[in-house]
Amino acid sequence: MIRSYTNYPLRKHHTFGTDASAKYYFEFTEAEDLAGFLITNKEWQNWPVLILGEGSNLLFVNDFEGLVINPNIPGIASVHEDRNNIWLEVGAGVIWDDLVEYAVLNRLGGIENLSLIPGKVGAAAVQNIGAYGMEIQNRIVSVTGFDLETQTESTLKIDDCQYAYRDSIFKNQLKDRYIITSLVFKLDKFPEFILNYGDLKTEVEKLGEVNLRTIRKTVIHIRESKLPDPKVTGNAGSFFKNPVVEASLAEQLLTIYPKMPHYPATDGKTKLAAGWLIEQCGWKGFRRGDAGIHEKQALVLVNYGNATGKEIFELSEEIRQSVQEKFGVELEREVNVISLP
Ligand code: FAD
Ligand code: EPU
Repeated sequence: MIRSYTNYPLRKHHTFGTDASAKYYFEFTEAEDLAGFLITNKEWQNWPVLILGEGSNLLFVNDFEGLVINPNIPGIASVHEDRNNIWLEVGAGVIWDDLVEYAVLNRLGGIENLSLIPGKVGAAAVQNIGAYGMEIQNRIVSVTGFDLETQTESTLKIDDCQYAYRDSIFKNQLKDRYIITSLVFKLDKFPEFILNYGDLKTEVEKLGEVNLRTIRKTVIHIRESKLPDPKVTGNAGSFFKNPVVEASLAEQLLTIYPKMPHYPATDGKTKLAAGWLIEQCGWKGFRRGDAGIHEKQALVLVNYGNATGKEIFELSEEIRQSVQEKFGVELEREVNVISLP
């Protein structure tokens, strides 16, 4: 199935609930459709490109004056199996949480802590989605997609994807050019549970037996209790990444703020909690017009109704500046802002 439109409204295609439109919009459900479209519409080569999933990590501050490509490819198929593992090939357009539900129902472990993260499977591989002690890079075997620059399809093995915390090659060298069409995941038939994040273990144990279903149920419950539902209140999850700073800066801050949450990160660095830093600056629950900061999670900016993308963006820049002034820590956006001049 192919759908293509000009001057296409995007409000229903992202979770912040702001108005924006695309000059051109192309959605397809089979990988072969893309090559056909690109051959018959050569003028696309002069347009900026935005690859779209569910729009749960985007903030539109302007209309998109280019081509939006939505690879809405369905399908979950088992492609290999041995005694301990199953390899699943999954289309980029599959809703991420449908895949988690499928895995849990089929007693396959490895992604249950990532329950209820919004978005599609393709974008999960871009962002290296993570939550409750799990990251998707630990389950990806390979990523297949179409490179607009070389006009070829290719498959990247996990070691070529340059995964790090909320980072990958698809956010850097291959950004806006490599359209992910499918992924292969490796899941466990005899899973070892990861329950060391916060009070996850205690919460799961309250349900009795610890298994994939009770972990999924608990994660969903925790998430629903502190994150706003985008269907009700516009948002894109954490607006900023948790900053990774030099250990010396973290130690300096800990002498002033001994209760500051901090975690060991790679290369001897320290990860701080952006939500805590923002809350300390007094922003939690703040509202200006319809743009605000969630009252239960200071890392989540929200649209209470009719905020514009620009209003939300301006608020985010004020937050960034105040954290820099108070703590000397620079916050990096996790949300993709479309399109900054
Ligand atoms: P989009 O927002 O549409 O796109 C995100 C980026 O990926 C864009 O740069 C886009 O161009 C690119 N992209 C999308 N599809 C493709 C493709 N097929 N090929 C190449 N590039 C592509 N994230 C977490 O990691 N952990 C969380 O716990 C979490 N919680 C959230 C909670 C809420 C309430 C919300 C609203 C968001 C949360 N997020 C979280 C962020 C978001 O869910 C993820 O970033 C998700 O992977 C985005 O998926 P999407 O399909 O909506 O991508
Ligand atoms: N905190 C505060 N005030 C706040 C929010 C958090 O003090 O307003 C403190 C908490 O008390 C805790 C620490 O900050 O000590 C961490 O908080 P939490 O466990 O809620 O997680 P987070 O670091 O704010 C990250 C991810 C989430 C993910 C959760 C659970 C990032 C940027 N965010 O949030 O991912 O769901 O952990 O693993 O890494 C997303 O990426 O969109 C997202 C929601």
